[in-house]
Amino acid sequence: MIKSSECVGIILAGGTGSRLHPCTKVTNKHLLPIGDMPMIFYPIKKLVGAGITDILIVTGTEHMGDFISLLGSGKDFGCSLTYRVQDEAGGIAQALALAERFANGQPMCVILGDNIFEDSISNTIAAFKNESGNAHIILKEVPDPERFGVAIVNGNRITKVIEKPTEPPSNFAVTGIYCYPGDVFNIIKALKPSARNELEITDVNNAYIEVGRLGYSKFKGYWSDAGTFPSLAKANELVREAAPKF
Ligand code: G1P
Repeated sequence: MIKSSECVGIILAGGTGSRLHPCTKVTNKHLLPIGDMPMIFYPIKKLVGAGITDILIVTGTEHMGDFISLLGSGKDFGCSLTYRVQDEAGGIAQALALAERFANGQPMCVILGDNIFEDSISNTIAAFKNESGNAHIILKEVPDPERFGVAIVNGNRITKVIEKPTEPPSNFAVTGIYCYPGDVFNIIKALKPSARNELEITDVNNAYIEVGRLGYSKFKGYWSDAGTFPSLAKANELVREAAPKF
């Protein structure tokens, strides 16, 4: 039985991996190697390292069996894994909505399965728990912010997040590690699909900004996504140069 204040983990590992074809033709992006482990091991180990041991993995129908064969119950990682099928891709917030029953009102740390980063998330989780009732995201200064959600930061507050702006207002990318209180599902239910017909996680973050409930921290170490051939190669290089802290 999970205590109501306990934080659960959610790893979003769906998508078609179209930018990595043909390597993702018969497998899922998150099963490809980074360093000496499949990509999906990294978010699991990050969560477990921060004391989060009840974890939901969301992925599509095609490769769910492979995830289960690879990860099993989670006992090798010291965690308990639950699996949820995403029938079709409809955006990060739509995938997160599938976790409502699993989260059961508890706070959660959501990780996009293709985010590879150096720092432990223990401090972030501690900060999130401290600001009880607030959501919390992690920023990283990058040279190519137009590829990401970009934060406008004013003093110690984020005043807005803009998804993939052509003219980025800052170099602070919003990383794919998001901490939300249990009410995030009410926010998702009120979202309208974006121009690309997805429920955007950026709209969720802006909803928390509007009510003054979004905290943030910054990564000191490296951070990369791994959804394209250049970023997949980069993530491999970063992990080889300095092992991530779990
Ligand atoms: C998604 C989010 C974006 C975020 C990024 C982090 O982008 O929409 O705000 O900065 O993840 O990896 P996507 O990877 O879907 O292009």
